[in-house]
Amino acid sequence: METKILKPTLQNFLICADIIRSGGVVAFPTETVYGLGADATNNLAVSKVFNVKGRPQDNPLIVHLHDKTDIEKYGFIKTECARQIIKTFMPGPITIVVKKRPIICESVTCGLDSVGLRVPVSQIARDFIKACNLPIAAPSANSSGRPSPTNANHVMEDLKGKLEYIIGGESSEIGIESTVVDVTENVPKILRYGAITPQMIIAACGNVLLPSAVEGDKRSPGTRYKHYAPSCKVVLFKRGDVNSAEEAYKKYDLSKVIGFEDTCNILKLRSVKTISAGADALEYASKLYDLMRAEEKTNHALILEISDTSSIGDALNDRILRAAGTIDFSEK
Ligand code: TXA
Ligand code: MG
Repeated sequence: METKILKPTLQNFLICADIIRSGGVVAFPTETVYGLGADATNNLAVSKVFNVKGRPQDNPLIVHLHDKTDIEKYGFIKTECARQIIKTFMPGPITIVVKKRPIICESVTCGLDSVGLRVPVSQIARDFIKACNLPIAAPSANSSGRPSPTNANHVMEDLKGKLEYIIGGESSEIGIESTVVDVTENVPKILRYGAITPQMIIAACGNVLLPSAVEGDKRSPGTRYKHYAPSCKVVLFKRGDVNSAEEAYKKYDLSKVIGFEDTCNILKLRSVKTISAGADALEYASKLYDLMRAEEKTNHALILEISDTSSIGDALNDRILRAAGTIDFSEK
């Protein structure tokens, strides 16, 4: 099958919507990362998403809606924190986990009685979903385990020949996946860190449980698997620890340091090859996957700087640690 990148025009949305309505898959941009979409009410369509990605069968998909007024068609909103989060952060880079309605098919949720619902802020994503006139189940549009795609070419690298169309037109501004938060009980539980931070959720809801406090919780199966890993080795160093970075650089043949601008400036003076990912964690997060994909081919090792855990730093560090495989995935 030939794979084409389409411009984000209404005419192209209609072509892609026809594919979705007849049970096919289409990749599309969102502000977090690119998604691989299918009709969330059609088991057969959703099973194609799992096949194309090589995704484990017990890792549920997020359902994307074009407007938050549709949320109650697909899930039950029963708690005050659910209402607050919808009001404050949607549309935006956040996914709420709620009890599902039967119209969402079993393959989306892998048999769970809950579903992840998200309303992207990206206008392209919303216009495409609206043209489909269906809820769209979509994981990130990478091969399972690889860094998520933040532009159409990344999707092409991983999935060429496995789908007909990729809607292009913009790079993902945020660059890491949405915050996933379970709002089925009175205190919201973060299942995956993202651009909507714990501090922001506390400000809206008064309280939050963090992933460490819900570890072992089977409700976010996706967090068990190794993720976001480039094909070369990944080595980590603490924020500003230039000596460790230099040591690792010397130890690994053909390696490069990726980190904050200030750290890279110091390392450059020591003749270490560096790539600055930006001055702050927001910029670093937006470039992380693109840099991993660009550099994995020509380096044996990437030496990544860990962020301070402030603002989006928690989410950034979660992805960096998983890319390096330092989180224990032994459970599966
Ligand atoms: O930003 C994003 O969320 C992107 C874009 C395309 O919207 N999507 C994305 O999907 O990252 P994916 O499939 O790569 O990650 C979905 C995460 C997984 O960790 C999965 O386990 C969790 O959401 N999830 C989905 N449904 C769930 C449910 N019912 N209960 C608990 N966790 C759920
Ligand atoms: Mg993913």
